[in-house]
Amino acid sequence: MTPFPQTDRVAQILQERALRIGRVGEYITSNILTKLNASDPGAMNLEIGCGHGHWLNSLASLRSKDIFVGIDLLSKRIRKSDRKKELLNISNVFFLKAEANEFLEALPKNIYLKNIYVMYPDPWPKKRHYKNRLIQDSFLKILHDKSRPGSKLFFKTDHEPYFDWTKQVLTKSSTWVLGSDNCLMVVLVIFRDFSKIHMLVLQHAYKHNLWLAF
Ligand SMILES: C[S@@+](CC[C@H](N)C(=O)[O-])C[C@H]1O[C@@H](n2cnc3c(N)ncnc32)[C@H](O)[C@@H]1O
Repeated sequence: MTPFPQTDRVAQILQERALRIGRVGEYITSNILTKLNASDPGAMNLEIGCGHGHWLNSLASLRSKDIFVGIDLLSKRIRKSDRKKELLNISNVFFLKAEANEFLEALPKNIYLKNIYVMYPDPWPKKRHYKNRLIQDSFLKILHDKSRPGSKLFFKTDHEPYFDWTKQVLTKSSTWVLGSDNCLMVVLVIFRDFSKIHMLVLQHAYKHNLWLAF
C-alpha cells in the first residue's frame, strides 16, 4: 500500500489542473492573442458555458471587429460550436473546452474581459447544490480582476430562484454594481439560429445589460 495515497491523489489532481491551464494558455497565446482588436488592445468578449455556440456564433457574426471566445466543460458542445462556426464562416469567434476558473487563470495579463456573458447557466436548484452555482462572490472577484472599468457582465436565466440569488450576490458584491436595468427575467426561449425570434432575443440581451463593473 502507498504510504500517503490521498496526498498522492491531491498532487495528481493539482498536476492535471496545472497541465490543463498550461494548454489553455498556449491555445490563447497562439490562436487568439494576435487576433485581438487593434483599436481596443487586449479586449476579449467571453461567454462562459457557451453550450452548442448558437448564441455566440450569431453575436460574433453581427460584430465582426470584436473577438469572442466561448468556453464550455463539454467537448461535444465545443465540437458542435466549431462546426457551426465553420458552416457560417465566422473568423472572430473561438471555442474551447475549459472550465471557467481555469480559463481565467490561464488568461495572459495583457488580455482583459470587455463583455462577459453567462447565458442560462445551470441553476442547481437544490439547496445543497447552491455551492456549484457559477455566480459566487469569489468568482465575481476573479472576473473583476480580469476586467476593466466599463466592462460588463451579462447574466440571463429563466430560473427565478437563481435570478434572485444572483441579484443578492451582486447587491452584496464589492466588485460589481448592478446596472440600471435590472428587470431581466426572461421567459425560456429556444434559440433558433438567425430566425426572427433569435434576433429579437439578441436585441433583448443587448438592451438589458445587467451588471456593470466598478
Ligand atoms: C444550461 S447550459 C446553457 C448553455 C448555453 N449558454 C445556452 O444558453 O444554451 C450551461 C452550460 O455551461 C457549461 N458549464 C457549466 N459550468 C461550467 C464551468 N465552470 N466552466 C465552463 N462551462 C461550464 C455546461 O457544460 C453547459 O454547457
